[in-house]
Amino acid sequence: MGAHRVIKRCRTLAELTETPHGLLRTFLSPAMREAQHLLAGWMEETGLHVRLDAAGNLRGVYAAAREPAPRLVLGSHIDTVPNAGAFDGVLGVVLAVELLAALGGRRLPFSIEIVAFSDEEGVRFGAPFIGSRALAGVLDAATLSLRDAAGISIAEAIQAFGLQPERLPDALLDADAFAYLEFHIEQGPVLDSLDLPLGVVTSIVGQSRIAVTFHGQANHAGTTPMALRRDALAAAARWIGAVERYARVTTGLVATVGAIEALPGADNCVPGEVRASLDVRHPEDEIRHSSACALMEAARRIANRRGIGVEYENRSDQVAIACDSALVEAISEAVAAAGCPVHRMPSGAGHDAMILAQRLPVTMLFLRSPGGLSHHPDEAVRPEDVEAALRVGDAFLAGLEAHHV
Ligand code: HGY
Ligand code: MN
Ligand code: MN
Repeated sequence: MGAHRVIKRCRTLAELTETPHGLLRTFLSPAMREAQHLLAGWMEETGLHVRLDAAGNLRGVYAAAREPAPRLVLGSHIDTVPNAGAFDGVLGVVLAVELLAALGGRRLPFSIEIVAFSDEEGVRFGAPFIGSRALAGVLDAATLSLRDAAGISIAEAIQAFGLQPERLPDALLDADAFAYLEFHIEQGPVLDSLDLPLGVVTSIVGQSRIAVTFHGQANHAGTTPMALRRDALAAAARWIGAVERYARVTTGLVATVGAIEALPGADNCVPGEVRASLDVRHPEDEIRHSSACALMEAARRIANRRGIGVEYENRSDQVAIACDSALVEAISEAVAAAGCPVHRMPSGAGHDAMILAQRLPVTMLFLRSPGGLSHHPDEAVRPEDVEAALRVGDAFLAGLEAHHV
């Protein structure tokens, strides 16, 4: 029970992967169906009423003592990056289930919904937050028509999973929802370096995701003289260097080219086409936007000089958000009640909370990431920190209960 069961369950879910070497679980993959099945069982034995919405989010509701009642929403995502760790996202869902299990069936003056979001990382479609955007009612037609590497659109993937895109309006947040709280590993080194178990999140930085394609000319690597080539990968390489230099001299900016594909992709072919991702983040949306524009302009300049074309597709643009001050205060009080030092901090990573913030007050509780490691198989969490987070959750629920009676 408690922290050890939470960690064991996260490790069990980490075995459900679509690649044999290293954990990968993307939006509506067979591995995600297995993860949903396992989680649904844990939710049901905890007394939650479970359903799968049309965006593939698994949702369990713990009914209030009396209905109708206000609703607290807890959750995080169950998709992963490639070669992922066991705790990013999953911990927030499993920990929420454990928090409700500790109630031992006792009902509260508010209902609690736990959401296991189907996509937060954006790995399959290059566009993150598909799951939470459905709850916020901002999953638009343009996003639904984005295609994965196999040419399948989000709407088609939903259908192929046995769900109905036309039922997406049913995925909207319940009208009675009054707050969203997300437990998550920090994914950075701050808490570890301060020797603190927990952090209360006050804001989340904005992020842009852009798909950039360089169009050159594929040709024979032996016969095409260097001066007569239009090598898309050589152009992309210069641009990637420019992205890094730009971010290094712009305070607070992080910019990453994290995925790249060269076509046709053979030792003896001059690359004719390169598809690259660009992820740009800054606490201030204006600086993020102007930086993204500058980086696209740099690609155009570099490519032009080499007779290469460039195309961009904005896959996602999420504004920075501030967490709700009353909720931050309530969680801070719960942290103190749990016997832990209160440390408030911004989040450099994106989270489902930033999407739900469009609809209701949100906040998050970070758990220390040992070694500051995340998006890596060695990602970990300490049992005593999970125990502390459970105590905070318990104190938070008690505070809400006192408020709602
Ligand atoms: O990309 C992010 O910030 C998050 O880990 N999905
Ligand atoms: Mn992540
Ligand atoms: Mn995450």
